[in-house]
Amino acid sequence: MSRALNVAPKIQPVDIVGRFRDLERGVRTHENNPIGLPDAPQGRLQSMPIPALILFKAFCYIDQEFRLPLLTGEYLPMPDPYSQITTVAPGILDVLIKAMELRAADPRSQAIRKVFLSLVDLPDAARVLEIGCGSGAITRELAHLPKVAEVVGLDPSPVFLAKARQLAAGIANLYFDEGDARSLPYADNEFDLAVFHTCLTHVPGPEKAVAEAFRVLRQGGHLAILDGDYSTTSVAVGDHDPLQACAEAAIAGLVNDRWLSRRLPGMVRSSGFHLQRLDSYGYLQADSPDYMLTLVDRGADILVNSSRIDSALADGLKKEARRRAESGEFFGFIAFTGLVARKPPL
Ligand SMILES: C[S@@+](CC[C@H](N)C(=O)[O-])C[C@H]1O[C@@H](n2cnc3c(N)ncnc32)[C@H](O)[C@@H]1O
Repeated sequence: MSRALNVAPKIQPVDIVGRFRDLERGVRTHENNPIGLPDAPQGRLQSMPIPALILFKAFCYIDQEFRLPLLTGEYLPMPDPYSQITTVAPGILDVLIKAMELRAADPRSQAIRKVFLSLVDLPDAARVLEIGCGSGAITRELAHLPKVAEVVGLDPSPVFLAKARQLAAGIANLYFDEGDARSLPYADNEFDLAVFHTCLTHVPGPEKAVAEAFRVLRQGGHLAILDGDYSTTSVAVGDHDPLQACAEAAIAGLVNDRWLSRRLPGMVRSSGFHLQRLDSYGYLQADSPDYMLTLVDRGADILVNSSRIDSALADGLKKEARRRAESGEFFGFIAFTGLVARKPPL
């Protein structure tokens, strides 16, 4: 993925002054410091006059390699493209579409979804909403579930939605809408099931999205969330395994909140849902670890872009990952969390 990210043709302005202010105050969040920046000198930005800040902002661009140049000349990889999807360049969106479709077609992820979705108790002729549907790979699967009359996929990206409509051509009970999970364009009590599939970890303010799902569900309707417990992502086969640094860097640049899974039960209860199931599913790639190798590659590239390592070391890490894969020594793992909850019946 990273090689393709590097060919993104567009340079786009981005508001990162707030992130630097946080850095100056010593606030370490994933958003402003996904890979562990060194401490910024105290007060440099806070003491800047407003015109200087505006000028500084004007010089902050996402460059062709999807990075934010820092004052120091060091590069901070832009965190989680999915969380700012409407600002992402078309070339990158194409790469993300391929990644979403490939992942959905992976028999291991299909097996997890099959078990997970079997836990949801649907009424006959159910209306289903997938929130953050991307190119619609999961929406298409939902449309074929027994008892499902109609499925709507919602996403903020018109590019993803155009692809989703194209790929779903011929499926009669499937529709797509543009919108944001945090302010859904639907009336109250419209759906029997709301699904978030690897979406919420990308949404800043996920509690708003969960509250909106509650609003649009009918009384007795179900919420189904399947997402990565990304803090578990591991390619290490022993202590201090250098490949693990690549996995950590990749996840820091791919999701908005790697810990979200662990706060989901509290979040759905606070929105009024009754929690019915909370399960963990292991996603393991050892033979043919194609997806986990892309994580190692992306992480190695991020470490180079942030001046942590040089490109020779990155190449060495990528080669080591492939050597392990070829010799049967590779082990890549991510736990996924599946949650099913119910809006209380009247
Ligand atoms: C990793 S993709 C998952 C797509 C699809 N659910 C799947 O599993 O193939 C995350 C999706 O969340 C969407 N997304 C990001 N922010 C969103 C928001 N605020 N509201 C709704 N969807 C959002 C992205 O556009 C993207 O399609």
